[in-house]
Amino acid sequence: MLTTEAILYYKDRPVEFVQDIIKAIPDENQSDILNRVAKNRMTSIRSGHGIGKSTALSWLIIWFMCTRPFPKIPCTAPTKHQLYDILWAEIAKWLNPTLRTEIEWTQEKLYMKAYPENWFAVPRTATLPDALQGFHADHLLYIIDEASRSKRCSI
Ligand SMILES: Nc1ncnc2c1ncn2[C@@H]1O[C@H](COP(=O)(O)OP(=O)(O)O)[C@@H](O)[C@H]1O
Ligand SMILES: [Mg+2]
Repeated sequence: MLTTEAILYYKDRPVEFVQDIIKAIPDENQSDILNRVAKNRMTSIRSGHGIGKSTALSWLIIWFMCTRPFPKIPCTAPTKHQLYDILWAEIAKWLNPTLRTEIEWTQEKLYMKAYPENWFAVPRTATLPDALQGFHADHLLYIIDEASRSKRCSI
């Protein structure tokens, strides 16, 4: 889908990736979130509702899927509603037909069609900490939407 050259360009430029490949327009807050995640090992976002956090997380999931080889992206949220009806649904909303030629979205998994077993994002509901344990890959992105005290996603 992306050429090697494009991957090298977009891997550290999530804002441009969202604009050019996902074809969405991140606002200032969202651009800031995207850039922080690209630059830091861990990013925590504290803010009110409706500013576009879950959307930014869904973009990050798609960006990481497209710009890293064999990534694993465990995703969680405090409730099934938040995880499936909001975050997981948001990913489907932004997967355009071009992205869908190579990436498959299902209720249980988002995966690269050529490598369903080791190139994916998965939703995991659990109140216990082990929901995100046991994933091994060179490129891991943990996404936690609506963490109870701070909202964070880490790279
Ligand atoms: N940059 C954007 N362009 C278009 N729609 C957006 C954008 N950012 C957010 N939205 C839409 O606004 C709504 C609220 O965003 P959301 O990410 O759920 O907010 P939050 O998680 O901060 O409460 C969602 O339906 C989402 O699709
Ligand atoms: Mg949200």
